[in-house]
Amino acid sequence: MNNSELTILVIDDETFVRETISDYLSDSGFNILNAGDGAEGLDVLRANKPDAVLVDLNMPHVDGFEVLKVVREEQPDLPILVVSGAGLIEDAIKAVRLGAWDFVTKPIMDMGILEHALSQGLERAALIKENKKYKEHLEAEVHKRTEALRNEIRMRKKTQDALMVLQAEVIETQKEIIMTLGEVVETRSNETAKHVRRVAEYTAILGLRAGLDPEEANLLRLASPMHDVGKIGIPDTVLNKPGKLTPEEFDLVKTHTTIGHEILKHSERPIIKAAAIVAYEHHERWDGKGYPRGLVGEEINIYGRITCIADVFDALGSERVYKKAWSLEKIKGYFEQEKGKQFDPALTDLFFDNIDEILELRKLYPDG
Ligand SMILES: [Fe+2]
Ligand SMILES: [Fe+2]
Repeated sequence: MNNSELTILVIDDETFVRETISDYLSDSGFNILNAGDGAEGLDVLRANKPDAVLVDLNMPHVDGFEVLKVVREEQPDLPILVVSGAGLIEDAIKAVRLGAWDFVTKPIMDMGILEHALSQGLERAALIKENKKYKEHLEAEVHKRTEALRNEIRMRKKTQDALMVLQAEVIETQKEIIMTLGEVVETRSNETAKHVRRVAEYTAILGLRAGLDPEEANLLRLASPMHDVGKIGIPDTVLNKPGKLTPEEFDLVKTHTTIGHEILKHSERPIIKAAAIVAYEHHERWDGKGYPRGLVGEEINIYGRITCIADVFDALGSERVYKKAWSLEKIKGYFEQEKGKQFDPALTDLFFDNIDEILELRKLYPDG
């Protein structure tokens, strides 16, 4: 710390004392400001911002105690030393309580003592200043890092949100593709596009009622629209032949099950895997007289048994170019007669136990 960069304010009403101190400190290299009483001292203090203040206690108008009070309020980190001849210990205590950093008694026998006290005050003030700066620096650093962290969290969340939207989009797209694929195939074979939507809903309901958990029932809802996807491998002339099929032609139509299975079986995706089963087994019969493999009873996957019921129920209840829609009574009669033969009897009962719900769903997706 270089004295020439430091300014000391000396407030004393005794000209001789003031000048003696000022001269001495000036010789030591300090810049000096003078004031003859407390009021003037405060004016100079506010106008010039000295680095330290030496103040007398007993002065007219505004005394040293008043100056101490003001300094404590306005510039608490400013070193202020009392230089007083009062010689009363009470005054010294009062001054220290009011914020005096040190107390030097007059007459000053050794100016070195005064300078030493002053230097100590200045050093302490410099230290406080540095600490403050360091604290501010730390606070700024903490603030900066907190902001950076917040930004990173915001960015991550944004990315995560975007990914979730993308994922939802992909899932929706998959569902739509599956449904559209099913619709296209069904439309080619004189079924309506709404047929696969209804079958999807029926299979989900029957799946739930049969004890599949909601997630698996939903999987079946997404997979069952693809039950006839193998029909893309059957020629139009056969698929849309107006009259009765020859045995050879019927054998060809039957291959839509194996073709569908071949198309779908290579996927690792749960929906496609389920769809492969549905395509393969939806024409199997409970009594083992179905195709393509003639599986019996519970050898047939529950997805196949459920889709079979849903598919036949909807086909019978829908109008086609070659037939009228069957009444519910007639359909019930058919299932009654075929349960245990074409259909899983327990699932058939379950289906008709929940027929109100099924009919509600049928209303949601009408043909035309
Ligand atoms: Fe089929
Ligand atoms: Fe169908």
